[in-house]
Amino acid sequence: MSLKARIDFSNLPSHIAVIMDGNGRWAKKRFLPRNLGHTNGVKTAKNIVELARSIDIKVLTLYAFSTENWKRAQDEISGLMFLLKTYLKSELQSMIKNNISFRVIGDISKFPKDIQAELKNTCEITKNNDGMILNFALNYGSRQEILRALKNIIDKKIDNPTEQDISDNLYTAKLPDPDLLIRTSGEMRISNFMLWQIAYSEIYVTDVLWPDFSEEEFYKAILAYQQRERRFGGV
Ligand code: IPE
Ligand code: IPE
Ligand code: MG
Repeated sequence: MSLKARIDFSNLPSHIAVIMDGNGRWAKKRFLPRNLGHTNGVKTAKNIVELARSIDIKVLTLYAFSTENWKRAQDEISGLMFLLKTYLKSELQSMIKNNISFRVIGDISKFPKDIQAELKNTCEITKNNDGMILNFALNYGSRQEILRALKNIIDKKIDNPTEQDISDNLYTAKLPDPDLLIRTSGEMRISNFMLWQIAYSEIYVTDVLWPDFSEEEFYKAILAYQQRERRFGGV
C-alpha cells in the first residue's frame, strides 16, 4: 500500500509548522555553493505548499529566516532575499488559483524595501482566500514575538493578562497552534521557533535534508503524527 493510501484523511493535522533546515549541508555534499542549496530548498517549499493545499491542510507555517540568520555572510543573506522575491513573484498566480492566503509572521521592517512591498502586496491580494493559510516566518524569533506580545499587552493596559491575551498578541493570533512540527536535517532543537505555540505539538524530526524532502517524506511525517497518542496532559 502506498504511503498516501495509509493516511487517515479524517484525522489530518490542522496546522503543520516546518523548520526547513539542511539546505547548506545539501549543497556541501555536492560541492556546491550554499545558495544553490537554498535554490533547491525553494523548489521543495513550492512542492510542499501545493501538496499541503491539495490534501486540505488548513494552516502551513514555514520557517524561512530567523532573527539569528542575520549572522550569516552578506552574500548568503542577499541570495535568500533574492530567492524570496522571485518566489513571491512566481507563486502569486498559483496562490490565487489554489485559494491560498499568504501571511507573514516576524518583523519584516529590516528587510529591503522592495521585498517588504512584494510581501505586503502578496498578503493583500490573497487575504480573502480561504483554502489554506500559508504563513512565512521571516525575521522571525519566538522570544522577540513573545516580548512584542508583552509590550502590546502593556500598551493596551490589560491588567491581569491571561494565556489567551498572550496568544492573541502573537503574530499567530487567531490561528490554531501547530498540531505537527516537522524539522528536517536531524537537529534535535527548536531554534527559537514558536516556543509558545508548540506547547503540545507533536514533533517529527527527519534526517532528510530539506531540498530532498519529497511528497513521500511529507506523508511519512503525517503518518507518524497519526500514530501518536495525543494526551494534552490527560491520561
Ligand atoms: C535552512 O538551511 C535554511 C535557512 C536557515 C535559511 P540552512 O542554511 O540552515 O542549512 P544547514 O543547516 O547549513 O545545512
Ligand atoms: C532554523 O535553522 C531557521 C530556519 C530554518 C529558517 P538554522 O539552521 O538557522 O538553526 P540552527 O542554527 O541549526 O539552530
Ligand atoms: Mg541550518
